[in-house]
Amino acid sequence: MIELLYALAPGFTGQGLATEMAAAVLDLAFEERGLALVRASTDAPNLASIRVLERLGMTPAGESPGPRWPQLHFQLSRERWRALRDPPLPPGDPTPGITDPR
Ligand SMILES: CC(C)(COP(=O)(O)OP(=O)(O)OC[C@H]1O[C@@H](n2cnc3c(N)ncnc32)[C@H](O)[C@@H]1OP(=O)(O)O)[C@@H](O)C(=O)NCCC(=O)NCCS
Repeated sequence: MIELLYALAPGFTGQGLATEMAAAVLDLAFEERGLALVRASTDAPNLASIRVLERLGMTPAGESPGPRWPQLHFQLSRERWRALRDPPLPPGDPTPGITDPR
C-alpha cells in the first residue's frame, strides 16, 4: 500500500497535469508493483485536490481530524482501477481487433 501525493508549481494548474501524472503513478503501483491498494488524503477545503482524486476514480475512505483542517481520506483498489481503465465492451460489440472480411 502506498500513499499518493502531488503538487504543481504555480502556473501549471488547470491543464490536467496532476491527474495525468497521478494516473501514471497508479499504473506503476498496480501493474508494475502489483500493489492492491493506493490511498490518498487531503485537507477538506482542498477542492482542486479532491477533484483530482475523484477523476482518478478514488473513493472516500473516511475522515480524521487534522492540525488545521479535517483530513479526507480516499482509496483505490487495483480491481477498481482496472475496471475503470478497461471497461467491459457493451453486449453485441465486435471483438476488438477482429474485422469482418465481408
Ligand atoms: C492539487 C493540485 C495538484 C490540482 O491541480 P489541478 O490543476 O486542479 O489538477 P490537474 O492538473 O489534474 O488539472 C485538472 C484541471 O485542469 C482542467 N483541464 C484543462 N485541460 C485539461 C486536460 N487536457 N485534461 C484534464 N484536465 C484538464 C480540468 O478541467 C481541471 O479543472 P477543474 O478541476 O476546475 O475542472 C494543485 O491545486 C496543487 O498543486 N495544489 C497545491 C498542492 C496540493 O494541494 N497538493 C495536494 C495535497 S493533498
